[in-house]
Amino acid sequence: MNRKRPVAADEEPTGPPSAASIAAYVTRAEGLVAGAEDLGALDAAEAELLGRRAAPNVWKRALGGLAESERRELGGALNAARARIETLVATRRGDLEKVARAMVLESDRLDLTEVLPVPGPGHLHLVNRVREELEDVFLGMGYEIAEGSEVETDWYNFTALNMPPDHPARSGQDSFYLDLGDGESVVLRTHTSPVQIHLLERGELPIYAVMPGLVYRRDTPDASHLPVFHQIEGLVVDSGVTFGDLAGTIDTFTKAIFGADVTARLRPGYFPFTEPSAEFDISCTICGGVGCRTCAGVGWIELGGCGMVHPAVLESTGVDPEVWSGFAFGFGIDRVAIMRHGIEDLRTLVENDVRFLTGV
Ligand code: PHE
Repeated sequence: MNRKRPVAADEEPTGPPSAASIAAYVTRAEGLVAGAEDLGALDAAEAELLGRRAAPNVWKRALGGLAESERRELGGALNAARARIETLVATRRGDLEKVARAMVLESDRLDLTEVLPVPGPGHLHLVNRVREELEDVFLGMGYEIAEGSEVETDWYNFTALNMPPDHPARSGQDSFYLDLGDGESVVLRTHTSPVQIHLLERGELPIYAVMPGLVYRRDTPDASHLPVFHQIEGLVVDSGVTFGDLAGTIDTFTKAIFGADVTARLRPGYFPFTEPSAEFDISCTICGGVGCRTCAGVGWIELGGCGMVHPAVLESTGVDPEVWSGFAFGFGIDRVAIMRHGIEDLRTLVENDVRFLTGV
């Protein structure tokens, strides 16, 4: 038996008990149980006091050799002693378990009053900061800020923009359709251009507006594409608006956003809702126009599309193209953000890197 404390040889019961040896056993047992400081010590004491080779069991086997009256008397005393020690062990075990539970609770306790280091109030995400800056630039140029909804009908996203059903340009903007209305009639907008139609329908002319917001395309994310991204659309409709006004406007806001040493250029392009149409580029912000990896050696980076509002778009919203003319442009805000801040991969913006929200 693995005793915690050595027991003197004369304590080992050998023969039958006597009233005195039972009393001595009870006294020793009381001391051992009360002195068990933890559950492990109590288990050891229990094994020593009540186990198979402990006094009560040895004595019980030896009772058989006694005379009947003595056997009855000592047997009763032995049972009473055993019952008393069992009760003492159970009570002590209950108490020690309570102590152990309290200790676990204490060590697991969460101090809810603890003040955790909070890294300041944080700031807007880079994309939202660039969006606000763009809005400020256009507000300064006398534009209003308009917002549309991210869910549009086929009419606003395509048809009214001179892209009737089956128009090949539709497939260039692979779309997420919603399970609403007739098949493929409600779409997550693929660009911010449908807001042009809402503004024209309002019938309040002239219009000088920019419309920022989220757009959705079925693109696989890579370094320069995200399936959900931000665009900002511009629309100007007035009398006598020219392509020169468009070019001057683009040059003005690109310089305001990227700095005076950045130049913009227009290249012929095609959009069904503008005529003529152009793609606009800015001189590469990384190499300053000399040619580098980011601009694939050409010195220019494509930013967006633009053009003079197509007469069919004005007509589809009841605006007379003989009286009014205008220009529109649209480009990705996320791309502006990464170009201006030298971030190589668009996906970095949406990977929950807290550095976009905290710090300086
Ligand atoms: N909506 C076009 C696009 O997302 C960009 C554009 C806007 C082109 C306005 C011309 C005029 O690709």
